[in-house]
Amino acid sequence: MSGRTAVLRATRAAAPLLSNASRTPIFRAIPAAQRTFSLSASRSKSDVVRETEVPVSMYSPDSKGAAGSTSDHFSIPVNRDDAKPKPFPAEEDADVVPLTKRVWREMPPMMQKMSVMDKVVVVTGGARGLGNHMARACAEAGAKALVIFDVNQELGDEAAAELHQKTGLPVSFFKVDVRDGAAINAAVDACVETYGAPDVLINSAGIADSNIKAETYDPAMFRRLIDINLTGSFLMSQAIGRAMMAAKKPGSIILVASMSGSIVNYPQEQSCYNASKAGVIHTTSV
Ligand SMILES: NC(=O)c1ccc[n+]([C@@H]2O[C@H](COP(=O)([O-])OP(=O)(O)OC[C@H]3O[C@@H](n4cnc5c(N)ncnc54)[C@H](O)[C@@H]3O)[C@@H](O)[C@H]2O)c1
Repeated sequence: MSGRTAVLRATRAAAPLLSNASRTPIFRAIPAAQRTFSLSASRSKSDVVRETEVPVSMYSPDSKGAAGSTSDHFSIPVNRDDAKPKPFPAEEDADVVPLTKRVWREMPPMMQKMSVMDKVVVVTGGARGLGNHMARACAEAGAKALVIFDVNQELGDEAAAELHQKTGLPVSFFKVDVRDGAAINAAVDACVETYGAPDVLINSAGIADSNIKAETYDPAMFRRLIDINLTGSFLMSQAIGRAMMAAKKPGSIILVASMSGSIVNYPQEQSCYNASKAGVIHTTSV
């Protein structure tokens, strides 16, 4: 049934409702909110809807802004080959728009408190994944400078260059393995020298080793995972915490754990990951 035929049938079916055998179109006779609409019920019985065109009715105000003087009725063609959703641009390609001071001043006090305006933010594991998205979010929430700590030289360098290009903010990448306390201390010292003591640390670096049965899990891998996820979070927090304390400034240290630290995600076989994240959660307990 074409769109136009459908509209005509719906109008005729409702004809007895019209007073004084009026031939006024139904949309004038009965307020829209009270109109019975039987069309959708019959149409919805069809499993497949394949319109070849979409009827459009446009009512526009006149040049003085008054209603009802112009209307336009037409159809737009439907390209049946175009049914699949168009690919979305990858999030990595999306713009990162830093929060400006001007906008920040206009924000309510609570929103200002939730920003990181003028803060130096360090993100471990910021070369990709959640850490990278959190670094981007901090740029959009007003960060003054961003520092990425990550073990992946190539990705880390790329991430820092990209973030700097997109935001114009100072961004540094330190190739640091979070298991290496001495390298962390050297990098934190260099960071303090360049930007001052950090205000925020986000510990996102981590690995999962998912789907390996406990009975076949290599003990060396167990130790490695605990070392990265748990000891690494501690070493980073200790080094940045000491820098904050030395500068006598308050700061925020965020440890990214997982729901797997408090429940077991079935059927992932990842006892070591679960244990490491439970440890991360308890590291922050007081
Ligand atoms: N992705 C999830 O669904 C999910 C869910 C819950 C928690 N998490 C946690 O969030 C954090 C980030 O997860 P993700 O999915 O973004 O992971 P990801 O693998 O995409 O990114 C992890 C980053 O950490 C870096 N990294 C790994 N080992 C390192 C080391 N020894 N030293 C320094 N950097 C190191 C990697 O190079 C990488 O850039 C992890 O701690 C993870 O356990 C993730």
